[in-house]
Amino acid sequence: MNPKLNESEKGKPKKVLVTDPISEEGIKKLREFAEVDVELELSNEELKERIAGYDALTVRSGTKVTKEIIEAGSEGKLKVIGRAGVGVDNIDVETATEKGIMVVNAPAANTISAAEHTIAMLLGLSRKIPAANMSLKSGVWERKKHMGVEVNGKVLGIIGLGRVGSEVVKKAKGLGMRVVAYDPFISQDKAGELGIMLSGFKEVLSLADFISLHTPLTKETHHMVGAKEFELMKDGVRVINCARGGLIDERALKDAIKSGKVAGAALDVFEEEPPSSGERELLELEEVVVTPHLGASTEEAQKAAAIIIAEEVINALMNKPVRNAINMIYVEEELMGAIKPYLVLADKLGRLSAQLIPKSSRTEQFEVSYEGEIGAGGAGAGTGIAGNTRLITVAMLKSFLSWFIDGVNYVNAETIAKKFGIKVTESKTETIKNFSSLISITTTTQSEKKRTVAGTLFGKDDLRIVRLDGFRVDASPSGYMLLCSFSDKPGVIGPVCTILGDRGINIAGMQVGREKAGGEAVMVLNVDSSVGEDTMEKIKKVENIFDVKLVRL
Ligand code: NAD
Ligand code: MLT
Repeated sequence: MNPKLNESEKGKPKKVLVTDPISEEGIKKLREFAEVDVELELSNEELKERIAGYDALTVRSGTKVTKEIIEAGSEGKLKVIGRAGVGVDNIDVETATEKGIMVVNAPAANTISAAEHTIAMLLGLSRKIPAANMSLKSGVWERKKHMGVEVNGKVLGIIGLGRVGSEVVKKAKGLGMRVVAYDPFISQDKAGELGIMLSGFKEVLSLADFISLHTPLTKETHHMVGAKEFELMKDGVRVINCARGGLIDERALKDAIKSGKVAGAALDVFEEEPPSSGERELLELEEVVVTPHLGASTEEAQKAAAIIIAEEVINALMNKPVRNAINMIYVEEELMGAIKPYLVLADKLGRLSAQLIPKSSRTEQFEVSYEGEIGAGGAGAGTGIAGNTRLITVAMLKSFLSWFIDGVNYVNAETIAKKFGIKVTESKTETIKNFSSLISITTTTQSEKKRTVAGTLFGKDDLRIVRLDGFRVDASPSGYMLLCSFSDKPGVIGPVCTILGDRGINIAGMQVGREKAGGEAVMVLNVDSSVGEDTMEKIKKVENIFDVKLVRL
């Protein structure tokens, strides 16, 4: 499910641009698959000019992948942005999603390194190692000045109990620290597994002797620690930030250190990297220990991140499942085989739905329902196909929207639907009659007329359309199909077939469904070639025909 692979590009060598230093192992892996340019000195303007010529861009935190750069890439070949690390705050993921460009990262590759660096910073700060190191190297033997504090028995407050936060907890406990954590998205059970208690944000701030930040940088977490928060902390608190610069208001931190409220800070990350000259006052304070964003800078982490990101970029370009996609649904490769026939059915149902509604009519609702085995377990069904229906829903939406607009893919289908005000819902039930699984789409348009199409699989890959609005049919969704609604009276089917026959249009299959004898009925004709406007008009004029539509699946 490559988001943007288009037919004309198949078979052409792929091109990957690397704009931040990543391990040679990753470059080597990329080169086995693609032409790779490593350009570490590009300005934003130069990157914007060149990006359209590449299928993939690979970065660390140095390159700012802005809206303008992504838009320029989307005008060309760009399909995937790989981040050799965890934080994607340097990438405009929203724009990438809108433009159907996949963003992948390597989230676990540097967890241990980042946690070890945090502990190193914690101890460096508590024992004033950097300052002592500097003074001794300059020839001064000062033991009193570099008096430190023990961490054993002290309270460590962790903000953000994800991968790195959890690792830091384990290591800090080994140092005899008592740990409390705040993370609104983590359960007490998870914290319990680490042998710690979750607390509120303010409680953690007020209880801790050391505070270590481990959240992503988002609009919500920007400056989450500022003047107000420092006020809540214990006098003499020490703060460590090996996560992201913007989490702490650096000016407020400087004031809090100068006032003596904060005894010291250890910072690996900064609001601006490298910090501008205006920010040097904070860096130069004696109580501040700094490293230039080294949390992930170990041979092990860099090798792992580069290899993972190379593999993921290649997977994305080869149309294989991508485990670490930020903006795309992931399905295990083994399960993908079983889901594939449903994705083909989803494509047909989405296209059929789109062709049933008038082009000028705005769609307001797109309701997908899964019945039978595929709906087993109801909402939130676990593993297996039933637990992965969202991908099938996205496939239907993609095919539906593609009928009206260009550039829709698996990455941006949901975003585009939202933008157009289409409410997408999914419902599931195990209850079903006649089939083992049934998937249906009901669209509601502005005019409030609902249209329903439903399909199923017979065996492994025999696709069937089995319902059209209220009618039961059994049609193979392929090629051209004529859908006629009519009044169930004699003398309709014959003339329609004659009109087609007279024009040399071969009927490959025919299905009739009706509500009740003499009521409304539908006829589905699979035809071997397209049906011209004049022929359609002629069919419409057959007595008792209400409507005729030609669809192509
Ligand atoms: P993660 O996604 O596993 O964990 C982040 C945690 O923060 C999650 O559990 C999430 O629930 C929590 N969180 C989100 N918003 C929060 C909020 N408002 N308050 C409290 N908790 C909140 O990420 P990770 O891999 O553990 O990385 C953590 C941070 O460390 C990220 O910012 C990442 O970019 C950074 N990082 C830096 C380096 C480095 O070189 N210095 C290396 C690796 C990671
Ligand atoms: C990350 O987010 O993974 C870190 O900041 C590491 C890095 O890319 O240097």
